[in-house]
Amino acid sequence: MERLLLLISLLLHVLWVSSAVSHNVPALYIFGDSIFDAGNNHFNKNCSAQADFPPYGSTFFHRPTGRFTNGRTVADFICEFPLCVWAQFLGIPLQKPFLGAQIEVAKGSWKNYPSNGLNFASAGSGVLRGTNQDLEVIPLQDQLQQFKTLVGQSRIDMKLAQESLFFLESGSNDIFNYFLPFDTPKLAPDAYVQAMLVEARLFVDQIYKLGARRIAIFSLGPVGCVPARTLLSDAPVDRCFGKMNRMVKSFNKGLETLALDIPKKYPGAVGVYGSVYNIVQLFRAMPKRYGFSNVSGACCGDGPLRGQVQCGKEGYRVCQNPNQYLFWDYFHPSEHTYKLISKALWGGGHSRIQPMNLKTLANMAIPRA
Ligand SMILES: *[C@@H]1O[C@H](CO)[C@@H](O)[C@H](O)[C@H]1NC(C)=O
Ligand SMILES: *[C@@H]1O[C@H](CO)[C@@H](O)[C@H](O)[C@H]1NC(C)=O
Repeated sequence: MERLLLLISLLLHVLWVSSAVSHNVPALYIFGDSIFDAGNNHFNKNCSAQADFPPYGSTFFHRPTGRFTNGRTVADFICEFPLCVWAQFLGIPLQKPFLGAQIEVAKGSWKNYPSNGLNFASAGSGVLRGTNQDLEVIPLQDQLQQFKTLVGQSRIDMKLAQESLFFLESGSNDIFNYFLPFDTPKLAPDAYVQAMLVEARLFVDQIYKLGARRIAIFSLGPVGCVPARTLLSDAPVDRCFGKMNRMVKSFNKGLETLALDIPKKYPGAVGVYGSVYNIVQLFRAMPKRYGFSNVSGACCGDGPLRGQVQCGKEGYRVCQNPNQYLFWDYFHPSEHTYKLISKALWGGGHSRIQPMNLKTLANMAIPRA
C-alpha cells in the first residue's frame, strides 16, 4: 500500500513537472458571450439571459451550470486539452465565472481569485455596449473593466497575465439584433460592422495594455444559420439567412486583420485568428463525417427548427441524442459541436486557425519587447 502511494505520488510529480515544461501558460482569461459564458449571468440576478435551469448541462455536468449548452463549452475543452488536463487531475477545476469567484472572495471562503484564470463572458452581450442592455447582460467593455479592476488591486499579477492566454469571442448578438424588427438600427450594415470593429480593436488595445501577450480572437460562426432565425419574419426556414451571414463574414474579415496585425502594432504580443465560421461550415457540409444526424434544427426547444422557444421554457421538447445535433438550442451549439471546434482550434491547420494553432501559441516562448 505504501509503495503504491509512493508510486502514485512519484507519477503525479512526473506529470506535474512534464506539464510545467510542456507549456508556458499558467492561466486562461476569457471574454465574450454565451459561447464562453460558464455561469456569469447566473450570478447576475438582474440578468434575464439565463441557462441555469434543466435540461441545460444534462449531458455532461448532469445539472445546469449556467452554460448555454448540454455540457462543456469551447473554453472548457481548451482548458482540458493543454492547460488544465493535469491541473484537473490534481483537482484544479475549470476557469470559474468571475462573478461567482467574486462572491466567494467577498464572503472570505476563498482567500483570492483562482490562479488558473477567470471567465468574464456574459451570454447575450455584444461588442457594442448597447446590445441586449435591457436584459442586463455584461457588455464586453464592463468585462474588461472587471479584469482591469483585479489587475489594479493586484488580484491578478501582470507577470502572470503576460504568460497567460486571452480569448475573445463576441459579436453574434450585435449582428442578430441588427435584424430584430423592433430594434431597427440607424446604421447601414457596413457602418454597423465598422462600429463593431472599432470596439473589438479597443478591446485588444486595452487588454494589451493590461499585460496580455497571447491573444486569440475567434470568428463568429454562421449566425445566419441558427434555428432562432425563424423568429425573424424575413429569414428563410429552409436555408441560412444570407443577409445575416454576409454581415458576419464582413465582421470576421475585420477580426482576422485585427488578430494578424497584433505583432506589428503591439510589440511582444502574438495574435491568432480562429475561423469558427469555416470550421462550422465543414460540419454542415459533411454532417455524417463529424457524427451529426441533424445540422439544421435545435435538439431542444419548440416551433419551426425548435428555434422559437428557449430550451427549458414552457412547451419545450428535447431530442434523444443531443450530441448528434449541431445545435443544442435556438442559438447555441451542442457540446459535441464545441468539442470538435475546440479540437480544430487547438491542433488544426491554417484553414482553421492562423498563423498558428492554440497548441503552438500556448507552447511558444513570448518574445520580449
Ligand atoms: C439589480 O437591480 C437592483 C434594483 O434595480 C439594483 O439595486 C441592483 O444594484 C442591481 N444589481 C446588479 C448586480 O446590477
Ligand atoms: C432536424 O431537427 C429539426 C427539429 O429541431 C427538425 O425540424 C428537422 O426536420 C430535422 N431535420 C432532419 C434532416 O432530420
